[in-house]
Amino acid sequence: MKNSVPPSDGFPKYIINGGRALFGETEIMSAKNSILPLIACSAMIDGEVYLSRCERTSDSENMLNIMRSLGGRCRFADGGIYIDCRGLSRCRLGAELTGRLRSSVFILGPLLARTGRAEICYPGGCDIGPRPIDLHIYGLRMLGAEITESDDSVTCRGNLRGARIELPLPSVGATENIIMAAARAEGRTVLCGAAAEPEITDLQNFINACGGRVHGAGTRRIEIEGVRRLHGTSFTPSGDRIAAGTFMTACAICGGEVTVTGVNPAHLASVTDALRRAGAEVEERTGGATVRAVGRPRAPGRIETKPYPGFPTDLQSPFTALAACAKGTSYIIENLFENRFRHIPQLIKMGADITVCGRAATVRGKKLHGAETEAEDLRGGAALVLAALGAEGSSAVSGLRHIDRGYYDFCGRLSALGADIRRISQ
Ligand code: EPZ
Repeated sequence: MKNSVPPSDGFPKYIINGGRALFGETEIMSAKNSILPLIACSAMIDGEVYLSRCERTSDSENMLNIMRSLGGRCRFADGGIYIDCRGLSRCRLGAELTGRLRSSVFILGPLLARTGRAEICYPGGCDIGPRPIDLHIYGLRMLGAEITESDDSVTCRGNLRGARIELPLPSVGATENIIMAAARAEGRTVLCGAAAEPEITDLQNFINACGGRVHGAGTRRIEIEGVRRLHGTSFTPSGDRIAAGTFMTACAICGGEVTVTGVNPAHLASVTDALRRAGAEVEERTGGATVRAVGRPRAPGRIETKPYPGFPTDLQSPFTALAACAKGTSYIIENLFENRFRHIPQLIKMGADITVCGRAATVRGKKLHGAETEAEDLRGGAALVLAALGAEGSSAVSGLRHIDRGYYDFCGRLSALGADIRRISQ
């Protein structure tokens, strides 16, 4: 596609002219994957909650609609989110709400802890694999919940009491659901095999700011003393490490100098290491980092996704885009999700030379050219944008509803850094 705008099909698209280096600073706001469980957790908080530095992504909007449907009062204001669930009066969620996002599953623990009952239709979300919720159900059952499943929904009942729980794999969501349910259970819970992502630490700190007693987040062993009541609070989640990593990778692809602020660089150690292997200079500082790059990146070599602190699966697709335009061959191994290479056929439209065998992609880097591509999931969509920014010529990226889930004003932010990108919607 050379410098021509594709015919309109009525859906919004990004039109990108690649080849421009990026320069400037971008402020990273609160992490999507912290905000979503914290919104759900508010269902069991007896007071008003304020989460600061929150952007109006569609996932956050949809999560607030879930809380409203249960009788909670929510609003975006003062640059953040206010939630007050003292008037919560329902404990059932239909498919029209849960089908939109995976995070609807987070309501099970808090709702059960608050009301003794929770019923949801199975959650939707990015189609990056089967995404079962068996570990969520296992954890809640260990805490004493009676759980029945039908073809399309799961119903939980019962009063919760502390337990010793061992997760067979460090599921982020299951860890979060168990912590929330145990925070209001009778007695003490010890959770082993827990996920250790920064979002788990945010949840612990939030619950403790509300009067809870959670300890050990960031390690594989978390202890929770149940309390009878949790009061309201104001809380600032961590900066979004995945959004930060996305902009840092964009700079490594395009060249230039980009500073991200509002994020803890320690949360990005594995990404910084990979960027340096790709030839970028990364200067870490308190509250952020600066990336400097000149010309095409080097192949970063082997990138293998792992639970935190390993290389994050959410940055696998942006890094595949980097590898696709790099000098040399890279090997991308996706260990967390079964279907997280959907961006690869789209990258191949841009001239990428990638072969996939199971969970491994062999990427022989080369100069990419513009093309019409379509996002099929959130992070895969970001990868297509980054590839287009580094490609020669003009590209169109559609499927923006996926990107809007987790990147607020993605186009405006990239444009402010010097990218030639605009959003058209007929
Ligand atoms: C969270 O999803 C994030 N989402 C994902 O980010 C992220 O990719 C993922 O953690 C891994 O870091 C939110 O926090 C809202 P998991 P989650 O449970 O909780 C299997 C993004 O792009 N599993 O850690 O769903 C599962 O199939 C999104 O921002 C079970 O088998 O991830 C997967 O293979 C995408 N049974 C693995 O565990 C379960 O009950 C990791 O899943 C739960 C999970």
